[in-house]
Amino acid sequence: MTEVPTLILGAGAAGLFCAAHAGPGTLVVDHARAPGEKIRISGGGRCNFTNLRTAPDRFLSRNPHFAKSALARYTARDFLALVEAHGIPWHEKTLGQLFCDRSARDIIDMLTGLCTAAGARIELRTEIGEIAHDGHRFRVTLERDGRRREVLARHLVVATGGKSIPKMGATGRAYEIARQFGLAVTETRAGLVPFTFPEGRFAALSGVSLPVAASAGGARFEEALLFTHRGLSGPAMLQCSSYWQEGTPLEIDLLPGTDAAAALARAKAAHGARQLSTWLAAHLPARLAESLAGDLPARRKLAELGRDSLAEVAARLHSWQLLPAGTEGYRTAEVTLGGVDTKGLSSRSMEAKDVPGLFFIGEAVDVTGWLGGYNFQWAWASAHAAAGEI
Ligand code: FDA
Repeated sequence: MTEVPTLILGAGAAGLFCAAHAGPGTLVVDHARAPGEKIRISGGGRCNFTNLRTAPDRFLSRNPHFAKSALARYTARDFLALVEAHGIPWHEKTLGQLFCDRSARDIIDMLTGLCTAAGARIELRTEIGEIAHDGHRFRVTLERDGRRREVLARHLVVATGGKSIPKMGATGRAYEIARQFGLAVTETRAGLVPFTFPEGRFAALSGVSLPVAASAGGARFEEALLFTHRGLSGPAMLQCSSYWQEGTPLEIDLLPGTDAAAALARAKAAHGARQLSTWLAAHLPARLAESLAGDLPARRKLAELGRDSLAEVAARLHSWQLLPAGTEGYRTAEVTLGGVDTKGLSSRSMEAKDVPGLFFIGEAVDVTGWLGGYNFQWAWASAHAAAGEI
């Protein structure tokens, strides 16, 4: 039997950051072989560690106000200051997204270094067994190398993340713990995930990428779309997936910022003898223009197309409706939407309102950010909020 002031379940972004601020003697346990595995693979290996445009309206939750307090008290600038204090070179890529110049390993090393400096210990390859609470302390059974032991802790911080990418050790264990202690869990589903379409639908377009404005579920994103052999991906599609409801279409503007009707009218006046297909090829990637041509009067000369026909072509290009078969699901999702219901948690501290000493932080909670560093910022901010109360 060991006794620690704070036991943190999960050595991912939120768990490590909480341990770095929770005070000496903190124990962090994780069943993975290494800490921060998702940090390691994030941002294409360079970790998009925060976003300078962080604001509560870039997060999805049943309670859109819940994240405000934590995000306001630990900001993207605060995390950036920490990164700079550790001499980690970084750059802004686009839309406020900050990445490491070298590797995500810099962030993991910074976090584990902070844990060591704070007197926290990280124990890996450790399975979490039963959890009990006697009203004052938590008793958690841990198993490592076939040996079981019990740990007593005044504070238990659940930072085991969501269900995305089970291959990387995601388990949904946080939801079981929440239910055990009487907290509700909102419906969970895969977010920031590519869309799938019936086989072969976009086979000829695989690899084509273009800037679009895509809409789903009332949200609209101007970012890149990428056709894949399974369907649609790229930042615009990943963002839409978090708002999309099954059975509803996506609406894609293939020429955002262009008035296609006016551009077509100008082209008709200047080059009426040209075919519509020539115009399409000049404004869209060649393979996409070719593929769309089948549904449009592409072989007709612009001069032969009346105002209504041109308006119809423009409408098709600005509002391409596509009905996905589904998404790739948790297998490739960057995040899990939904989670521990914020109704049962203090927005100041992330502590369970009815179970003093029990905290839920990071992706486990029903707070999910947009693509672009927002989810790590939530991990840092919620972890910091919890650590401040421990
Ligand atoms: P996280 O999942 O990081 O950590 C949970 C930890 O708990 C893991 O170490 C896991 O092993 C452990 N665990 C789970 N169940 C357990 C059990 N039963 N027993 C013991 N241990 C258990 N976000 C962003 O802001 N910028 C980015 O660039 C990216 N890029 C990105 C790429 C990819 C491929 C993915 C999958 C995700 C991203 N994300 C991202 C999202 C980001 O990785 C995610 O939001 C955070 O890692 C969440 O941090 P947590 O600490 O809450 O969970």
